[in-house]
Amino acid sequence: MTDLDPLLDEQRRFPPPPEFARDARIGSMDEYRRLYRESIADPEGFWGRLAEAEIDWIEPWDRVLTWDPPHARWFEGGMLNVSANCLDRHLETRGHKVAIHWVGEPPGEQRTLTYRELHAAVERFAAALESLGLLAGDRVAIYMPMVPETAIAMLACARLGLVHSVIFGGFSAEAIKDRVNDAGAKAVLTADGGWRRGKIVPLKDNVDEAVAECPTVEHVVVLRRTGVEVAWNDERDVWWSDLVRDAPRGAPPAAVDAEHPLFILYTSGTTGKPKGILHTSGGYLLGATLTMKSVFDLKEDDVFWCTADVGWVTGHSYVVYGPLAAGATAIMYEGAPDHPEPDRLWEIVADLEVTIFYTAPTAIRAFMKWGEEWPAKHDLSSLRLLGTVGEPINPAAWMWYHRVIGKERCPIVDTWWQTETGSIMITPLPGAVPTKPGSATVPFFGVDADVVDDAGESVGPGSGGYLVIKRPWPSMLRTLWGDDERYRSQYWSRYEERGWYFTGDGAQIDEDGYVWIVGRVDDVINVAGHRLGTAEIESALVSHEAVVEAAVVARPDEIKGQAIVAFVTVGGGVESDETLRSELREHVVRRIGALARPAEVRFAQALPKTRSGKIMRRLLKDIAAGKEEIGDTTTLEDYSVLATLRQEA
Ligand code: WT7
Repeated sequence: MTDLDPLLDEQRRFPPPPEFARDARIGSMDEYRRLYRESIADPEGFWGRLAEAEIDWIEPWDRVLTWDPPHARWFEGGMLNVSANCLDRHLETRGHKVAIHWVGEPPGEQRTLTYRELHAAVERFAAALESLGLLAGDRVAIYMPMVPETAIAMLACARLGLVHSVIFGGFSAEAIKDRVNDAGAKAVLTADGGWRRGKIVPLKDNVDEAVAECPTVEHVVVLRRTGVEVAWNDERDVWWSDLVRDAPRGAPPAAVDAEHPLFILYTSGTTGKPKGILHTSGGYLLGATLTMKSVFDLKEDDVFWCTADVGWVTGHSYVVYGPLAAGATAIMYEGAPDHPEPDRLWEIVADLEVTIFYTAPTAIRAFMKWGEEWPAKHDLSSLRLLGTVGEPINPAAWMWYHRVIGKERCPIVDTWWQTETGSIMITPLPGAVPTKPGSATVPFFGVDADVVDDAGESVGPGSGGYLVIKRPWPSMLRTLWGDDERYRSQYWSRYEERGWYFTGDGAQIDEDGYVWIVGRVDDVINVAGHRLGTAEIESALVSHEAVVEAAVVARPDEIKGQAIVAFVTVGGGVESDETLRSELREHVVRRIGALARPAEVRFAQALPKTRSGKIMRRLLKDIAAGKEEIGDTTTLEDYSVLATLRQEA
C-alpha cells in the first residue's frame, strides 16, 4: 500500500497555550478522554444527554438510536423545527445580538442582521414560500450568491419542512439541470446575478437554461442583487421582493419529525452521476451545534468566520446551521479573497474583529504566494483560534498560518470530515489536544474511527490503510436521494458484515493515536478543496463530438492541492491542436462549471489498458506528475502505448 503511506517525519508539537486552555470549554486531555470514553462506552446515554441539552424539542423523542445497518434513525418520535432552534429560541436572550455580519464584494457594502431581524426575514420569506403552495417534504433548489437571503432561504425552507438543495453558484446550467431533476424540485430560488471579482455571474440565465429541461419546476423566485436585466417568464418567475410584499406576515415553525429530511446536497462520486447526500433534522442539528461549540470553543462574544461558500457542506454546517443554532455572530462574505486586493480578508478580520477564522488549505497556500505584506497591513490581534478543512494541509502551509496569521498565539484546528458526515469528525479540541502540523489529530466524541486493511484488520501505527467509522453518529447521511442501492454499495459494502462506514480516504494512525489523512483512495479528486469525480469529467469530455475516449487523473499542484489532467484520444481526421485543446477545456466548463476546467488536455494515440480493457489510471497519474519511474506495468496490454504517451506529453 505504498500509495497510502504518508511521510511521517513531522516531529513538531504545539500544546494548547495555557491561557487558552484555562478558559476553554474542554481544557485538558484528561477531560477530552473522559468525554470520549463516555461517548464510546455509552453512546445512547451520551447523545441522549446532549440532545436534551443542545436542542429545543417540541416533542421529546422515545429512542436515541435505531441502528438497522446501514440505516440509522436518531431521536425517533422527537419533533422539532431547525429554524426555531436557530432563531426563535435566541430571541429572548440574544434578540439584539448580531447573527450575520454580511460583507458584499463591492467595497463598502455591508449589512448587519440581528437575531430579531433575521427571524423576521425568515418568518416572512417562509410565508412567501407557503403562498406558492409548497408543502412539507417538497424540494426547493437554491442557486444564489453569498448574500444573507441565501441563509434566509435555507432557514425558511427548514421552517416549513421543505427540503433544500443548495447548488454552488459556480456550477453550469447543465449541472443545475441534473441536480434539479434528480431532486424533483418544485421551485428554484436564484438572483439576477452575483458578484465575482468585479464581474457579474449570470445566475438567472443559467437557471433559465437549466429549467427549460426541468419538468418539475413550477416557480423561479428571483432576488434582485446586481440590477442587471434578465429574461422573464411571467408564468414561472416571480421577484423575491414582490412575493414577500404580498405574503401574509409570519409563518410559524412547523413541527417535523427528527428524521424529516432537512437538505439534499449533491457531491461527486466515482461515477458520472453526482450523489444526493441526504441529511435529516435532529441528528444533523446536534452534530453541527455540538462541534460548533466544542471544536471552535465558542464563547458568547466570539465573531466567527467560516470562509466557505454555502454551496458546500462546510457552508451549511459552519456558516448557517452551526453558528446560528449556537447563537453565535457569523460573518458572510460575498466575494473573492483577492478582490480588489489580496488583503481583503484581513481587512474584514480587522474591521469586524473576527475571533475565529476557518478556511481551506488551498486558500492558505494562495495567501503564502501573495506574500506576508498583505496580512501585515492589518491588525489581526482579535483572532484567537484558526481552523482548516477540505484537504490535507502540508506542514509548510500549517506553519505559515500559525506564524503569519496566528502570530504563534492561536491554536489551529485541522478538521477532517465530509459532506456525508454532516459535521466535524476528526479534529483537535483547541484547549485540550496538542497539535502536530499536518495531522487532523483525534476523533471527536462518538466517532469510532480506525485505519484498516482490505480484510478489515487494524493496520496499527506506522502503516497506511483505509479510514473507516465503525458505528453510526447523529449527523451521518441517511441515504442517497432516490438511490438507496448506491448508498449501500458506495459506503457500506466494503465492510458489510461488520457494519462499518467506508470513507474513501486513506490514512495512517501514529503512536499517539493521531490520524494523518493521506487523501482519496477512489476516483475522486480534490481541486482547491472541491470534490470532483474523474468519471464526471470524462463523461463531459466524451460528450464532445471530437473525443473518442478520455481518462482524467490528478497531478499535484502547489496551490490547489491537485490539478486536473485529461488524456484524450480523438476520432480519425480530427485535428488535435491548440484550438481543440481549449475547446475541450471550455466544453467541460459548460457541462460542469469552471471548477472542473482541466489544467491540461493531452492528446494520445491510445490510452494504457489492462488486458481486460480497464484504463490504467495509475500509470497516467505517474506520467501526468512527470515521474521518471512509472509504477507496475505487468498488467499493461500494449507496452508501446506508454512510450508514445510520454512522447506526446
Ligand atoms: C473529503 C471530503 C467537509 C469538508 C469539506 C470537503 C478531504 C476534508 C480534510 C482534512 C485531510 C480532508 C477528504 C474527505 N478532507 N477535510 N482536514 N484533512 N483531508 O467536503 O467535498 O465532502 O470532501 O475532503 O478527502 O474525504 P467534501
